[in-house]
Amino acid sequence: MQSPCCCLLSLLLHLFLLSGTWANLEGTFTIRLLQTTTFQNTSFVDMEGLGLLEDIELGSLDKHTWSIHFCQPWVHPALPRADWDTIENLIKIYLQQFNHLINEGAVQREVPYPFVVQCTAGCVLYPNRTSQAFGYVGYNGQDFLSFDTKNITWTLSQDTELSRYVQSFLQNYTAFTELLEILFNDTCVDDMEVLLHYGRAALERQELPLATVFARTPSLDQLLLVCHVTGFYPRPISVAWLRDGQEVPPGPALNTSTILPNADLTYQLRSVLAVAPRDGHSYVCRVRHRSLGTRSLLIPWENRSAAPTISITIAVLLLVATAFAGGFWWWKCRRFSQETPQHSTETPYCSQRLFLFLGSG
Ligand SMILES: *[C@@H]1O[C@H](CO)[C@@H](O)[C@H](O)[C@H]1NC(C)=O
Ligand SMILES: *[C@@H]1O[C@H](CO)[C@@H](O)[C@H](O)[C@H]1NC(C)=O
Ligand SMILES: *[C@@H]1O[C@H](CO)[C@@H](O)[C@H](O)[C@H]1NC(C)=O
Ligand SMILES: *[C@@H]1O[C@H](CO)[C@@H](O)[C@H](O)[C@H]1NC(C)=O
Ligand SMILES: *[C@@H]1O[C@H](CO)[C@@H](O)[C@H](O)[C@H]1NC(C)=O
Ligand SMILES: *[C@@H]1O[C@H](CO)[C@@H](O)[C@H](O)[C@H]1NC(C)=O
Repeated sequence: MQSPCCCLLSLLLHLFLLSGTWANLEGTFTIRLLQTTTFQNTSFVDMEGLGLLEDIELGSLDKHTWSIHFCQPWVHPALPRADWDTIENLIKIYLQQFNHLINEGAVQREVPYPFVVQCTAGCVLYPNRTSQAFGYVGYNGQDFLSFDTKNITWTLSQDTELSRYVQSFLQNYTAFTELLEILFNDTCVDDMEVLLHYGRAALERQELPLATVFARTPSLDQLLLVCHVTGFYPRPISVAWLRDGQEVPPGPALNTSTILPNADLTYQLRSVLAVAPRDGHSYVCRVRHRSLGTRSLLIPWENRSAAPTISITIAVLLLVATAFAGGFWWWKCRRFSQETPQHSTETPYCSQRLFLFLGSG
């Protein structure tokens, strides 16, 4: 039998069998192949597949033709055309076999349709240049099986009759397990090195965070200060509130969202601090990010509320808002028209799917 995740991994290896120069990038890097297959009935299957290096989408599969869409300009040139043709053929054979075997097993074990199978496989390269591989199988959104790279066995993530059956099925195919071991122990590091070499600029990309501070008043006795930070890359960031210059410690008044993806492979988050109106303190939102180096972004909350100036402030704010909206509209149109030619030559498959996966991961 050809196991699903095994094939994904061998594809991964074929993808990047290239002797490249070792790129001296610091850090831990992960290659991940994701496959989601929905079995509607014995004759109708819906599939999505993509490959990631860290959070950068390398390519995705067209669900109808099963051909590769490249999401980065540096992935395709990494291999000769003939190699890509071979890889695409491998993918097609793999997907055919995967669908056939799963359907066969499902009918035999009377698994109810529809159901969803998800496979994730890949490897991690640590700074000490040791690597570790991983493989997970999910069934209907639940962890199902995982590959234990130390024992070279499949372990149950859920203990059901079905998971035991599939485990025993995979375990009986020693050729598959041996292949996994070769891939994990020997080849993964080499492939990662090639990819890091080709994708270096993308991995080292830095986008400055854009931060704004504004207030919400859910009730008369409460003021919510919102610090919204967006457009930054890479993902790690630190956002804190300073009260009179002192960092506000975590507590019920402080609520920071998770980091969410934007469609252009930048990220956003917001930090909300609940305060009493006119409490006499000063508040500043502080942002630290790799793109800022050792500097910090400091955005103060202007807590002026003297009665006579209010209407003037509102008028000025309205003016500014109008100007800003106009400017923003102009900028958007301009940006859109600038981006259009580029978009028309690229596939729409990439960022949307990445968005989905990042959103759910
Ligand atoms: C399988 O599902 C597809 C899509 O839902 C449907 O169009 C088709 O009629 C179904 N086929 C069978 C044999 O049930
Ligand atoms: C390499 O680093 C990883 C992650 O920090 C660690 O788990 C592993 O034991 C290290 N291996 C060696 C040989 O130092
Ligand atoms: C490896 O397998 C043995 C026996 O099957 C088990 O006792 C041990 O805990 C396993 N090791 C790991 C790391 O899972
Ligand atoms: C795996 O092999 C064992 C022992 O040979 C056998 O009892 C079991 O039925 C096999 N499992 C499957 C799913 O074929
Ligand atoms: C793979 O690595 C594991 C642990 O690092 C080791 O026990 C095993 O012998 C290796 N296998 C091969 C085929 O190199
Ligand atoms: C934090 O924000 C989330 C989402 O807006 C909300 O559900 C939650 O109640 C907030 N927690 C606190 C302590 O304000």
